[in-house]
Amino acid sequence: MQEFKNIKSSFPIFSNNPELVFLDNASTSQKPQMVIDAINEYYTKYNSNVGRGVYKLAEITDNLYQSGREKIASFINANSANEIVFVKNGTEAANLVSYSMSGKIASGDKIVVTELEHHSNYLPWLELAKRKQAQFEVIPFKNNQLSEIDQIINEKTKIVAVTQMSNVLGIQPQLQEIMARARDVGAVVILDAVQGIAQKGLDVKAMDVDFAFVSVHKMFGPMGIGFLYGKSELLENMPAFMTGGGMIKELNELNTEWLEVPNKFEAGTPNPAGVYATIKAIDFIEEIGTENIYKHNVSLANALREKLAKISQIRLLGKADTSIISFTIDRIHPHDIASIFANNEISIRAGHHCSKPLMNALDLNATARISFQIYNNEKELEKVLESINEVIKWTSLLK
Ligand SMILES: Cc1ncc(COP(=O)(O)O)c(C=O)c1O
Repeated sequence: MQEFKNIKSSFPIFSNNPELVFLDNASTSQKPQMVIDAINEYYTKYNSNVGRGVYKLAEITDNLYQSGREKIASFINANSANEIVFVKNGTEAANLVSYSMSGKIASGDKIVVTELEHHSNYLPWLELAKRKQAQFEVIPFKNNQLSEIDQIINEKTKIVAVTQMSNVLGIQPQLQEIMARARDVGAVVILDAVQGIAQKGLDVKAMDVDFAFVSVHKMFGPMGIGFLYGKSELLENMPAFMTGGGMIKELNELNTEWLEVPNKFEAGTPNPAGVYATIKAIDFIEEIGTENIYKHNVSLANALREKLAKISQIRLLGKADTSIISFTIDRIHPHDIASIFANNEISIRAGHHCSKPLMNALDLNATARISFQIYNNEKELEKVLESINEVIKWTSLLK
């Protein structure tokens, strides 16, 4: 296993909480000092609004904001910085696309999502289907993969929403197969890259997706900033989702003309400090390399999975060679598992993980979830196993 021995010292959360074992990384990642410093630097040195002033600080802010777009475009291999729209998180991006594409959906059209989706890439499409009396169908997840792709995506399908990586199981669905079928029938594909980007990278050109969205807080950046990638021709042909300041070229009583893409989609004061910190978060990831991050996380997950597989009371979900472990333990609710872990200063997540359709497919209400990141290490696995043993001991006391 590749160890990143000193990496923890880059994350001040751990010096402030020396006993903390943070294994809820699918929920949010911790922030390296350079990202935290960027926010401080922005507000102490450059603070001003975006796209509204001609004075020096405003110019610096505008330049930072634009360089954020360029940095992201290069990181995800987009054709142009104008294909990047800033939003507050991935959820907002999915809603933006679902509202702006409303005019393209008619009654009888079909919208397809997968059973692996987080509610963020499920509900906006379900609501769109309801608004437009369109068909809504879910690609089922069976035997650790999506099935019936060719039957469900058909000539009526206008939109396919799919995740790059499940936030519950870490599984990456068969994107190439979905893309090929969507291309055959002329459907637009929206990729939820929220879990995938920091570990698998995102190459929108190679994947040929039409839209992709990201929450920066899961890639070592701050909360409150995310981005939407959209192919230029699609963004240009979509109406604005929100209206207000910063997105208007002309307003003459009843007549409006929006600014060009991407400003058309960025109504209101944006988050330049978040954008500046995003640049630093990408610098951090690039320094290590997404492939190294993923390799590290998967090797920890595999080592733990192997140990957990030997405990008969544990039901392990998903599969090996992923960076997330979801599991249940006989006779105890996942919330109680998480509480016992919490007593030992280990942060894990329990619940439905905003993925009710997947919980239904797994015939469960909840799982306990351990998700890894670059600052986790083998020593922490021992602590996890001690807590697992404690849970098992508890269950043996139950009548
Ligand atoms: C796969 C996936 N998609 C979307 C989201 C939504 O992210 P946010 O709440 O930052 O909008 C999450 C968050 O857990 C996620 O894991």
